[in-house]
Amino acid sequence: MSSEPFKVGLLGFGTVGSAFAELLEERAAEIERFNGRRPVLGGVLTRSRGNFEEILADADVVVELMGGLEPAREYLLAAMRAGKDVVSANKQLLSQYGEELFETARQHDVRLRFEAAVAGVVPVVRVLEESLSATPIERIHGIVNGTTNFILTEMSNGASYPEALKEAQRRGFAEADPSDDVTGRDAAAKMAILARLAFGTPVHLNDVRYEGIEHLHRDDLEYARELGLGLKLIGTAERRQGGLSVRVHPTFLYSGHPLAAVSGPFNAVTVESETITEITMSGPGAGGRQTASAVLGDVVSAMTGGARAPAPPLPLRLIEDVENAFYLHLDVADRPGVLAAVTQVLGEHDVSIKSVVQRGMGERARLVMVTHQVLESRLRTAIERVGEFEFVRSAPRIIRVIEEEFL
Ligand code: HSE
Repeated sequence: MSSEPFKVGLLGFGTVGSAFAELLEERAAEIERFNGRRPVLGGVLTRSRGNFEEILADADVVVELMGGLEPAREYLLAAMRAGKDVVSANKQLLSQYGEELFETARQHDVRLRFEAAVAGVVPVVRVLEESLSATPIERIHGIVNGTTNFILTEMSNGASYPEALKEAQRRGFAEADPSDDVTGRDAAAKMAILARLAFGTPVHLNDVRYEGIEHLHRDDLEYARELGLGLKLIGTAERRQGGLSVRVHPTFLYSGHPLAAVSGPFNAVTVESETITEITMSGPGAGGRQTASAVLGDVVSAMTGGARAPAPPLPLRLIEDVENAFYLHLDVADRPGVLAAVTQVLGEHDVSIKSVVQRGMGERARLVMVTHQVLESRLRTAIERVGEFEFVRSAPRIIRVIEEEFL
């Protein structure tokens, strides 16, 4: 005797929505084989067709792949209030209205699953919510934007920034408006979600400091290579001084770091804790079919009774000024005393230098250094003073460095 089909109400039919519908059909028989119920597409809502109320009435689970804040928020809240489990891949929505959505899920005792909102198919949400739920997490580092990782990989192989961005758009990794990718905002939304899961505190997108990749210079990548460093857009969420710091910056890594080898549109997340040391998960972070696979996993989780919503939030204390190692690029006149003057100012501000490369170029020289850990405010004050020397020819540039070499 066959049981009733499990009806999926789909909101949105763009790149991920259409790939999801296709994958659902492909995998339905196999899912039925191990779950006893066959998932089928019920109604589909797009801008030009479908009626939300009818789709909702007929659905066992509502899958939101429309993106944007409204009406996605309104639909998810209505579905949960109607007692339906919901699945969403909407990182902007979860990073800005997560608490309202989680609270509604708890109140109505329904599941809110959102694996595809962070790092595509990499199962980091489930690992944080379930496998590591009893682990006191200290730090997460993530490459959580496929577009920027693809662009940086292409640039390190000689492509220009506009060429690489165009190719990322052509391959369907980039957001509809790629400024969310290249400014770091997309990664910031994902880090806010990960921080909420890892630390139990409500981290809003506005709590995340982020910088993108648009202002990077190709020669920084070349100098850094000489120092053994590769560049990534890294999101960090960590416990610091009794609070939390969540941020996204272009960051240099030594080649032994687990994230250093993650290239192209791949994403990866490293979770560190005293009890587990460190684990790294990686896989495709963008792309219609890959993201759809994570969404389908959430549908199966809703069918079989996976975790509900995160627990009620703990208070948040944000730490703004954190220690980092820094790469420092100075364009200076090439004459006696310059290096000594720079290192003296750095020393006076407790900035300790780990390595230096100097390249003479006629009258001028490029002085590139990597520092040890120093509070960002201290480094910035030192750089301001260095910038005042008459021998400095253009504005100093800094990029963060993760010091651990994992050798
Ligand atoms: N634009 C996003 C990225 C898609 O490049 O990672 C996945 O969220």
